[in-house]
Amino acid sequence: MCRGLPTGQQFVADGAQPALDGGAGRIERHRERKSAADVAKASRQIETDRAGDGDRQSQGPLGDEAAHRIGLVDGESEHSPPTGGVLTRASLQRLADIAVKHNLWVISDEAYEDVVFDGEHVSIASLPDMYRRTIPLYTFSKSYAMTGLRLGYIAIANQMIRDRAKKILFYTASNVASVVQYGGVGALEGSQHCIETFRTELRARRDLFYRGVKKFAGGVFTGEPPAGAFYAFLKIDPSWADPSTGGSTTGSGQAVAGDSVSWRMVEYLIAKGRIGCVPGVDFGPNGEGYVRFCFARDRKELTGALQSMKELFGVRV
Ligand SMILES: Cc1ncc(COP(=O)(O)O)c(C=O)c1O
Repeated sequence: MCRGLPTGQQFVADGAQPALDGGAGRIERHRERKSAADVAKASRQIETDRAGDGDRQSQGPLGDEAAHRIGLVDGESEHSPPTGGVLTRASLQRLADIAVKHNLWVISDEAYEDVVFDGEHVSIASLPDMYRRTIPLYTFSKSYAMTGLRLGYIAIANQMIRDRAKKILFYTASNVASVVQYGGVGALEGSQHCIETFRTELRARRDLFYRGVKKFAGGVFTGEPPAGAFYAFLKIDPSWADPSTGGSTTGSGQAVAGDSVSWRMVEYLIAKGRIGCVPGVDFGPNGEGYVRFCFARDRKELTGALQSMKELFGVRV
């Protein structure tokens, strides 16, 4: 959520009983429900505010699902961001107000802090009275193109939580390879100009991909370019059917989970077009009917995928 987290990567936990409290702290159920209702209400408001942001946003970063995440800090793992939407300062302030009102913790995954194309990048931790109740998580993955190297850091103001987080990290994710650590030092000590260069390139790839989809996918996919991250989360025309199967099964002849159009499309694109993508439904039920592409690949590869789409969907341009 911080510095304009592009997606729904935050969830809120009961601050009075830190979830890292080794089980000693019990969450008061009535407070949980009340907070959940408030978060859900704010989520709907945020959704309304973002209504002009296109269909892509309809599953929103803070659907009612966010409410269910209250108190679920431990054991809750997050998907990577599906839509690339960026929360506005006003939306973040509303969340911050709820967190303050109910004395909540906010866990904020800030992986895409440097990959914002449009709008400003706001950290919820930077809002009044928020840093002390926020647990911001950072990674070198996106800013320095170090995905897969598992190097990141946390910036927790609260001493007790910081100590406990250190303890957990020490026994779980410790021992980052020394070469990776040297890479991180190099990234921090080197010119930071690479971040802007990478962002500019990603923006160009985004625009290339969306222009191409508009031109070559024959209207099968719709959606607006995201304000951040590097994913195209596109709506599939509901009338689309896999021509090779009649629509209800995959190319291999096997039925897929829930006979999902997201899955059918992904199977089709991968098997027939060698286009890598992910079913939207993999990010939650609201993602059904969508497919996600990553446009961080180099321009040549994107152009190849678009060419492949053109052939698959029989578009003559
Ligand atoms: C939102 C989000 N948070 C965190 C991560 C994980 O980053 P890392 O490579 O440091 O594990 C990703 C990576 O895809 C991500 O998309």
